[in-house]
Amino acid sequence: MSATEFDAIVLGAGAAGLMCAATAGQRGKRVLLLDHADAPGKKILISGGGRCNFTNVNTQADRFLSANPHFAKSALARYTPSDIIALVDLHGIAHHEKTLGQLFCDGSARQIVAMLLEECAKGGVDVRVGQPVGAVTQNDGRFTVRFGDQDFAAPALVIATGGPSIPQMGATGFAYDLARQFGLKVVEPRPALVPLTLGGDDVLFRSLSGIAAPVEARAGKAAFREAALFTHKGLSGPAILQVSSYWRHGEPVTIDFLPDAPQGWLTDAKRSRPRATLRAALGAQLPDRLAETLADRLALPGELGALTDRKLADAETRLGRWMFRPNGTEGFAKAEVTIGGIATAGLSSQTMMAKSTQNLYAIGEAVDVTGWLGGYNFQWAWASGHAAGQAL
Ligand code: FDA
Repeated sequence: MSATEFDAIVLGAGAAGLMCAATAGQRGKRVLLLDHADAPGKKILISGGGRCNFTNVNTQADRFLSANPHFAKSALARYTPSDIIALVDLHGIAHHEKTLGQLFCDGSARQIVAMLLEECAKGGVDVRVGQPVGAVTQNDGRFTVRFGDQDFAAPALVIATGGPSIPQMGATGFAYDLARQFGLKVVEPRPALVPLTLGGDDVLFRSLSGIAAPVEARAGKAAFREAALFTHKGLSGPAILQVSSYWRHGEPVTIDFLPDAPQGWLTDAKRSRPRATLRAALGAQLPDRLAETLADRLALPGELGALTDRKLADAETRLGRWMFRPNGTEGFAKAEVTIGGIATAGLSSQTMMAKSTQNLYAIGEAVDVTGWLGGYNFQWAWASGHAAGQAL
């Protein structure tokens, strides 16, 4: 059976693949977009709590992690938050800024998927879903892809099958296998934007499950001032998800529980409320049970007035640099994204084309570019998808 011919085949109808296919289709290319899931854009649908945090107006390259921190610059500069906002506006999708530059739909993430499918339709993209992608081969500059029991062929192929986070949504490591098949290297994939688990001495904090507090969390050189949430397994919340991308096994995560308290606040409290206990002083600023646990750990019983300034200063220092030693993460099953992936050294930062294989492209989360929490990962999917779509 001879293969049906296209100008380009895009594998993966997620954020990046849809954007890439629509862009190339609207440039007059005959594009086939394939996905093994039963519907396109499934991760978009569950993103942002169902409202899709589709971009972040503060997008800049230093908010992305990659073995090459410069790689993302070109694509991000050529398709910016203003571009996706203009598209969203064109489709009449109401949106709002929630916090820290994060833009969400007022209505539903479904609107974003519908928008991308309409853009694909405008470009005449042939979207096919719900069959397994089988062998991918290349002969005489022509890629052939088996989809279900049919063969499709094109001179250009785009890998847009994402990373392995949330396998229950159809996520796989397929992109890496395919990349390796064509000689591309893969930076070790790890779960990122993921809750951390606590064991050992820290296990006591798991009893605070459900309690949140605004903190500054640090891992390595990265620091994020947002909410942390205690869970029955350990730590979560935006501040923790952010530092999880920078955290390495064996390293500590430090938390400043009172990032806004002025230096010397505890000795000041001793002067103004000498009869108060440490627990009461903490309880004035933190959720009650958290204050109790921290005070128990600091083991300074009695009234503040009876404690030396030195002891209070030490307690203040500890509260500002509380050290947790996570024993792991909740893994790919709970990770919003995958850090690592197809090594950028093998790709053109202008077009996303493989340097060693003409007309093979890789885009989106499959590539070793990972954004912060807050709309950055979709912005990378749009930008890298657009860059490849322009080049196909
Ligand atoms: P994506 O994973 O979207 O798409 C890959 C596609 O390839 C899928 O459709 C999949 O079915 C298909 N595929 C996989 N293996 C295949 C195979 N073997 N054969 C054929 N097809 C295959 N980001 C953000 O910026 N704002 C947000 O609000 C959120 N929220 C969020 C919530 C949750 C719960 C998760 C898990 C993730 C987020 N993210 C996010 C991250 C964001 O969803 C992610 O970065 C993008 O979806 C990546 O887009 P891609 O197109 O690269 O991959």
